[in-house]
Amino acid sequence: MDLAGKKIVLGLTGGIACYKVAELTRALGKAGASVQVVMTQAATQFITPLTMQALSGQPVFTDQWDARIANNMAHIDLSRDADAIVIAPCSTDFISKLAHGACDDLLSTLCVARPARLPLLVAPAMNVEMWQNPATRRNVAQLAADGIELLGPDTGEQACGENGMGRMLEPAQLLEHIIAAFQPKILAGKRVLLTAGPTFEPIDPVRGITNLSSGKMGYAIARAARQAGAEVTLVSGTTTLDAPLGVQRIAAQTAQQMHDAVLAHLSGQDVFIAVAAVADWRVANASAQKLKKDGSEGEKNTGPVLEFAQNPDILATVAALPKRPYCVGFAAESENLLQYGEQKRLRKNIPLLVGNIGHHTFGQDDNELILFDAHGHTLLPRNDKQALARQLIAAIASRLPH
Ligand code: CTP
Repeated sequence: MDLAGKKIVLGLTGGIACYKVAELTRALGKAGASVQVVMTQAATQFITPLTMQALSGQPVFTDQWDARIANNMAHIDLSRDADAIVIAPCSTDFISKLAHGACDDLLSTLCVARPARLPLLVAPAMNVEMWQNPATRRNVAQLAADGIELLGPDTGEQACGENGMGRMLEPAQLLEHIIAAFQPKILAGKRVLLTAGPTFEPIDPVRGITNLSSGKMGYAIARAARQAGAEVTLVSGTTTLDAPLGVQRIAAQTAQQMHDAVLAHLSGQDVFIAVAAVADWRVANASAQKLKKDGSEGEKNTGPVLEFAQNPDILATVAALPKRPYCVGFAAESENLLQYGEQKRLRKNIPLLVGNIGHHTFGQDDNELILFDAHGHTLLPRNDKQALARQLIAAIASRLPH
């Protein structure tokens, strides 16, 4: 529930992308937000207030003179206890109104009358020529200068049949941006590099040795770092997860590939977080061709004999560099976590080590962590991995040199 307790005024203006906002409304609700929909007259041509009321579970406002609010001042009251105003889709005309402070309907008046503290996020949606028009360019620049956050637009095929910039972002992307808007930007200007997921060491072209890491914890930390304002690069083993919005993902299969990708992207990084479950050994005598059973059916077959070579320790390599970023390691212990955790932190020569309590965390949605640093240890009690990831990012941010 990334938006638990948040109150969002969702403004719809005229555009075919209104149909996508039905889905956004549901998604906001599922994320824990309460949604107050306000529509312009033009928006009601594309989707009905009835639909939006059913999806948001609250009466929709479309009229400046709506008498349902006791003091008859919907343009004031609707924003006073809100946590954000989101305009999606935001038409060319509405961008122009925002840029000029127009107040000729409920939604535009509400935006001008919003408290200065209240974030205003707009998701433009229009034809490519309308987006490129010099007047729109001027108005968009004015919005940015006024501190209004622009979400997109994207480029691609448009409802009118033309192609180019002006497509509204998809509901899932808008949701991600809205969640991010509520996160404190404690890593603004910082660069974070992470490893995540399992490694895979081939035995032959179709077989290999891997582990049960799902990548969930590493991806949650990458997402939290991005939402905290960092530029994030994620070197990932094979997982089924989507890259978090705004995170650069680099695929790596083996420990050696992960090592090489980390070193290739290390320059200029402020933080390195090693979350991946890296194989300590690779198969030294991996076969270039698929291994075949020899002998005939039913005969006892002992199978191939595998030889192992040690993989590079990525975290220890980075931690040993003279100009190293702030290094964070992970440890999964099945016993004596307090003792082994601190020992591992010292052995790896890193300022912060994160211990998984128990080794059953792989693939789970929640976890329980202990942070080890030079001052001792701190417990992060059981929570879902995203909440823990945010706590970890806050812990890292507070330990970085200013
Ligand atoms: N790590 C790494 N490269 C490796 C092995 C581990 O970067 N080749 C990182 C992991 O991403 C993690 C930490 O080092 O951050 C784990 O250290 P490790 O000593 O491998 O711990 P365990 O896997 O718990 O192994 P053991 O207890 O057997 O030492």
